[in-house]
Amino acid sequence: MVDCRVQLGSDSFMLSLENPIMTASGTFGYGLEFTNYGDIGSLGAIVLKGISLRPRVGNPMPRIAEVEGGLLNAVGLQNYGVEYLISHILPQLQDTRATVIANLYANSVHEFAELARILSEESAIHALELNVSCPNVREGGVLFGQNKAMLADVVSHVTRVSKKHVSVKLTPNVTDIVEMARIAEDNGANSLTCINTLQGMAVDIYSKKPKLANIYGGLSGPCIKPVALQCVHRVAQAVSIPVIGVGGICSAQDVLEFILVGAYAVQIGTATFMNPTFPFQLVDELVTLCKEIGIERIEEFRNTLL
Ligand SMILES: Cc1cc2nc3c(=O)[nH]c(=O)nc-3n(C[C@H](O)[C@H](O)[C@H](O)COP(=O)(O)O)c2cc1C
Repeated sequence: MVDCRVQLGSDSFMLSLENPIMTASGTFGYGLEFTNYGDIGSLGAIVLKGISLRPRVGNPMPRIAEVEGGLLNAVGLQNYGVEYLISHILPQLQDTRATVIANLYANSVHEFAELARILSEESAIHALELNVSCPNVREGGVLFGQNKAMLADVVSHVTRVSKKHVSVKLTPNVTDIVEMARIAEDNGANSLTCINTLQGMAVDIYSKKPKLANIYGGLSGPCIKPVALQCVHRVAQAVSIPVIGVGGICSAQDVLEFILVGAYAVQIGTATFMNPTFPFQLVDELVTLCKEIGIERIEEFRNTLL
């Protein structure tokens, strides 16, 4: 037998997972779209598509482009808004035994705190994940996660009102991700999710046009795994709260690589677009690989890089 259970944190905001396999926000819809592919309750947790206070239509098309080893996207956080989530989606998620994490998107500190306050009251939600890769409209569109003062402000406001575990999802598009990780920890984050997409672009020499209508987009998939692994390793050495690893994971071996460098759990994103059953299969594949190399408890393997 392999004990795959993980605990994120140790206080009243502890999040217990049956296994370390989570889905990444924006790549698994609201979870319900995947119930024909597997039991969403068998995953460690599902992270919902980013949710904002009001519905958002997202960016113009095309907003997805395939690139070598990955994907560029500029979906622009299209979503139904929090009211619809509460009235139409959460009641259905409540009927599953899934551990559900809401991913929050907002353009001001006030909106972030309001979303956290509203979602804290929902029993179907087990934790909140702050997507700080979004522009602060009051500060001329600077991303929350790219400015130390703004990051401190948003994390402290959210953790003050939240009754749930709060994970801050860091952007790699900064000079020093460790500095940002420490700021999130100092301002009350219960865990950190590393990493969001990297900035990128793709162009077509025949039409001379960018491949995304938005010109720039977020790069994800196997090509970002070494970057994500390095971020997780550096951040995990620097903070004492749990780190959740995400970026390019495509196999059970990838999962163990992230755990080896210090991740408590991992999220699967772009790989789910290639195979919608992948996160479900991975739970079993991880157990098989652990048996093969003699790991009895996932937690004992964590952060054991020599
Ligand atoms: C189409 C798409 C939509 C995404 N939407 C969100 C989102 O709403 N909120 C968020 O925090 N991250 C979002 N992400 C980032 C992923 O959650 C993840 O951090 C990133 O894709 C890296 O993981 P991967 O290489 O396994 O895909 C999105 C990624 C993709 C590809």
